[in-house]
Amino acid sequence: MGVENLVVDGQRDAAVVGDATQLHQVVMNLCTNAAHAMEHGGVLTVAIHHVEIPERRLLSHGTLSPCLYIRLVVSDTGPGIPPTVLERMFDPFFTTKGAGEGTGLGLSLVHSIVADLGGAIDVATKVGEGTIFAIWLPVAGQAARPVAETVRDLPRGNGEAVMIVDDERSLVMFAEETLAELGYEPTGFDSSVDALQAFSADPRRFDLVLTDETMPDLSGTELAREIRRLRPDIPIVLMSGYSGAQLTERAHAVGVSDVLRKPLVSRNIAEPLARALAAGR
Ligand SMILES: Nc1ncnc2c1ncn2[C@@H]1O[C@H](COP(=O)(O)OP(=O)(O)OP(=O)(O)O)[C@@H](O)[C@H]1O
Ligand SMILES: [Mg+2]
Repeated sequence: MGVENLVVDGQRDAAVVGDATQLHQVVMNLCTNAAHAMEHGGVLTVAIHHVEIPERRLLSHGTLSPCLYIRLVVSDTGPGIPPTVLERMFDPFFTTKGAGEGTGLGLSLVHSIVADLGGAIDVATKVGEGTIFAIWLPVAGQAARPVAETVRDLPRGNGEAVMIVDDERSLVMFAEETLAELGYEPTGFDSSVDALQAFSADPRRFDLVLTDETMPDLSGTELAREIRRLRPDIPIVLMSGYSGAQLTERAHAVGVSDVLRKPLVSRNIAEPLARALAAGR
């Protein structure tokens, strides 16, 4: 893979490819990674192009069908990505950063968003030279969007009020978007303590609680226990980056109906939410 044959130019263009929150997440994560990779200095380039793809094209991560795309390119002149990292970098929680420095969720989130928008990713990197991430997104209305079609087939909410709790603000926003798209009425909290306070102020306000597990002060399962004390019939769904027998056991002990793996995308969340609500009725 050569970096030199993917030189970017500064063409700018606007077209609808997805919602602003999702696109913001993609750009922020790629730029943050590039900046981290260049801690001793370097050049970060961000560019957008309109590109017409006349025939199927295979990328490093996905395939493009013929249509009009927006190509967003983020490149850096950092150390490049060695093959062992390249293989696993899109996995949730894979990070080469030290404890407390990175969650390893950045690229897995980028991957989910791009897949949701019917796009694909191309990574070109050379150790010692740098890295280029090209995000290809079909321009709205220009392509068959297979994933969007499945989203339409997923079970949908009917305006049920869902409390979302996650200490990571960006993940709260992402979950809010996803749930709103599925027909729910989400309200996000980035503090479990604030969430508990809101719940105790009005235990009938919400139809379901969707909470992260790992949070400061009050973990998801602790929050679930308190909420259940206030209202024993409320369905609670837990989300966590890891799923293990221990967590499942702890979750069920406090009345959680399902444990979902982060990051959440519509495909993975629609069924469990509908199931939890149906069981709670
Ligand atoms: N531009 C880049 N240059 C070199 N390595 C990269 C680059 N982008 C990603 N990586 C590697 O891929 C790994 C995974 O990236 P990812 O964004 O998923 O997690 P992270 O950056 O480690 O943590 P977080 O995004 O949660 O802060 C990084 O730890 C890093 O090793
Ligand atoms: Mg990152």
